[in-house]
Amino acid sequence: MLGWRKKRAPVRLVDDKLRHIAFIMDGNGRWAQKRGMPREFGHVNGAANFKRIVRYCGDIGIKIVTVYAFSTENWTRPQNEVNAIMKLLSEYTDMAADEMDVHNIRYRFIGDRSVLSEELIGRINRLERDSEKNELLLNIALNYGARKELVSAFNALAMQGRANITERDISEHLYTAHCPDPDLIIRTGGEIRLSNFLLWQAAYAELYFTDVLWPDLKSSDIDEAVRVFYSRKRRYGGI
Ligand code: FPP
Repeated sequence: MLGWRKKRAPVRLVDDKLRHIAFIMDGNGRWAQKRGMPREFGHVNGAANFKRIVRYCGDIGIKIVTVYAFSTENWTRPQNEVNAIMKLLSEYTDMAADEMDVHNIRYRFIGDRSVLSEELIGRINRLERDSEKNELLLNIALNYGARKELVSAFNALAMQGRANITERDISEHLYTAHCPDPDLIIRTGGEIRLSNFLLWQAAYAELYFTDVLWPDLKSSDIDEAVRVFYSRKRRYGGI
């Protein structure tokens, strides 16, 4: 159930139907290009908005937020753009280490971190360890690809010599084994696809697409997505 004083007033969740929102943060490059600026400028503003949106989700009662920060395919972008995103992530982990308790955020990074710089791996590991007791779970997908995630889960199960593999076995070998599946996936930037994000976990998620470019996404847009979520009937294949 949703509590709001009047139509279009800010939402506040009063039940646990919507615990987990995942975001595909698309549109940074176009946002910058519309302003005659380099794509990196869009990522800087996208990173700033990411911080605002995560806090807003926490404020309205969301328990888990997952964001697609960098995919396994994003390495094919121009080197200066890849460097700019990595620098933002590095700066973000630095800031997060100082502020994690203020915003009560528990960090988890999902994806293959083995190819990241030693420095970034160290920061990520420390952030996860030091924020363990906080409540708002934030999964940051970094060098993440859903198909790779599934292949490594199947390989891990094969290595254990397992037979009769269950859905639960697979879920428990994904990067997201520590949390429930997303209830709602929001993609900004106008494209209508999942782009190799949480393919297994999205099985019963509600999908919400908006043309708003990620750096422009506002709290009122989240409210609207939440209202749409509550207006839908989730039947999980039943009637
Ligand atoms: C997609 O927009 C965005 C990305 C590939 C990177 C997302 C990165 C950030 C929001 C900043 C860093 C993140 C953190 C967590 C600090 P796009 O570049 O594909 O935009 P376009 O579709 O307009 O080209």
